[in-house]
Amino acid sequence: MKKFLYNLAISIFAILFFASCNPKQQQVNDYKYEIDTIAIIQRGDSIANAVQQVLLANVLQVSKSGGTVYAVTFCNERAMSLTDSLSQKYNCLIERISQKYRNPANKPGESDEAVLLKMSSLASAEPFLLSGNGIVTYYKPIRIAMPACLNCHGIEGKDISIPTLEAIRQKYPNDLATGYKEGDFRGLWKITFPEE
Ligand code: HEC
Repeated sequence: MKKFLYNLAISIFAILFFASCNPKQQQVNDYKYEIDTIAIIQRGDSIANAVQQVLLANVLQVSKSGGTVYAVTFCNERAMSLTDSLSQKYNCLIERISQKYRNPANKPGESDEAVLLKMSSLASAEPFLLSGNGIVTYYKPIRIAMPACLNCHGIEGKDISIPTLEAIRQKYPNDLATGYKEGDFRGLWKITFPEE
């Protein structure tokens, strides 16, 4: 009997605790989410721009000094580590995802599929936010914005020279990231912000 009362007391306490806690928690989250949306988009935009500048400056400079084949090796060895070090700097997780990925590490996750499908069909360059479980994810389209992209993502044997193609095939035997034209949707920036 004593044990029963003890259990009952615990259950009532638990019910009261969760009943009092949940709505409040919900409110705090909604409130926080509402006021943060614009700030998060601004933060995501500035991080995506900064990372893009770093990657682009590197790939253009290395292509110029060492040629496209060497630039493929450079991207293979450095694109991920550059992105990772910027993730640390900005305290978030920065990824580039694509349905037609070159590096399998950039394959979209299950939760990204619907966003990719929607954003690939829109001409818009607007970012998109997804939130849940205290995590906010920022997505923004990446396009084949300049002819230089085609040297490594364009039509094989036409835009992409044979030596470059060989280097790509050697490093990425299951590469999907060719056949693009200028202006095409290439994938998404995905920036995940931890719970604050
Ligand atoms: C010198 C060749 C080269 C050029 C030029 C180049 N890329 Fe890439 N790109 C690569 C390689 C190699 C990878 C895989 C990097 C890795 O292993 O992380 C890659 C990966 C990517 C990814 C990540 C998704 C995936 O498929 O793995 C995106 C997005 C991308 N490139 C877009 C672009 C855009 C946009 C441009 C033009 C501004 C561009 N690239 C120019 C070689 C190139």
